[in-house]
Amino acid sequence: MITPKHIAIIMDGNGRWASKRYLPRIQGHKKGIKAVREAVKNCNNLGVETLTLFAFSSENKNRSNNEVSLLFKLFLNVLKKETNKLNKYNVRLKIIGDMGLFPQEIQQAAIDAQTLLANNSGLTLVIAANYGGQWDIAQAAQKLAKQAVDGKINSDEINIESFEKYMSLADQPKVDLLIRTSGELRISNFLLWDIAYSELYFTDILWPDFNSTELDKAIVSFNNRDRRFGSRKDKAC
Ligand code: IPE
Ligand code: IPE
Ligand code: MG
Repeated sequence: MITPKHIAIIMDGNGRWASKRYLPRIQGHKKGIKAVREAVKNCNNLGVETLTLFAFSSENKNRSNNEVSLLFKLFLNVLKKETNKLNKYNVRLKIIGDMGLFPQEIQQAAIDAQTLLANNSGLTLVIAANYGGQWDIAQAAQKLAKQAVDGKINSDEINIESFEKYMSLADQPKVDLLIRTSGELRISNFLLWDIAYSELYFTDILWPDFNSTELDKAIVSFNNRDRRFGSRKDKAC
C-alpha cells in the first residue's frame, strides 16, 4: 500500500452534523476539531509528509457575524491550546491564506505556533485559513509582476516553474490525494493550481464523523487509481 505524500482535505459538513442532532452549528465545529486531532495523529503515524486542511475559505467570512466570530474564537483556542501537543508529536505547522482578515491576537498566535514548531521533522500540518485558490494564484502573480517591474526578471522568464515558486505550497510535495467530506462534489475555491494531477476522493461522511477507518478507505481508493499524468505506460500506439 502506498501512503500518499501529501493529503489535502476539504473538511465539510460540521453544520449538517449539528443540525441532524438539533444542536447549534458551533457544536459541529467543535466536534470537527476532534476529527482534526485524529486526522493529524493518523497521518503522522502513517508517515504522510504533508496534511493540508481547509479550515476557513475566503468566502466563509460572508457567513453570519455570529458564526464567523465563533469560528475565530475556536481557531484562537486551538492555536493556543494544541500547539504543545503538536510539538510532542514532532509536527510542523504552516498557515496559508490571507491572514490580514484575522484579529491581531490570532495573527500573533499563528506566528508563535509556527515559530515554536518550525524545527520539527514529522508531519507538516498546513492550515488554510481565509484561503482561496484564486487568491493564491493572484498573490503569486502579484509577486512575479513586482520582480518584473523591479527589473529582476524578464517577462519571458515567467513560466510554470517560476510561477509555482510563489504559490503557498511551493515548499511542499505535490498534492497526491484530495478528500472532500459531506457529499458535495465541488472544490469551493480550495487548492486550484496544486490539484492539477491530484486524485479526488468524495465521501458522504460528515467531517465530525471522519475517523481512521474513513481515512483508510480514502487511501485504499487512492491505491486503486492508475495515475497516468497524461502519459501511457505501454507507449504502444
Ligand atoms: C465546514 O463545515 C467548516 C467550515 C466551512 C468552517 P460547514 O460549516 O460548511 O458545514 P455544512 O456544510 O453547513 O454542513
Ligand atoms: C468549503 O466548505 C470550505 C471549508 C471546508 C473550510 P463550504 O461549506 O464553505 O463550501 P460550499 O459553500 O458548500 O461550497
Ligand atoms: Mg459546508
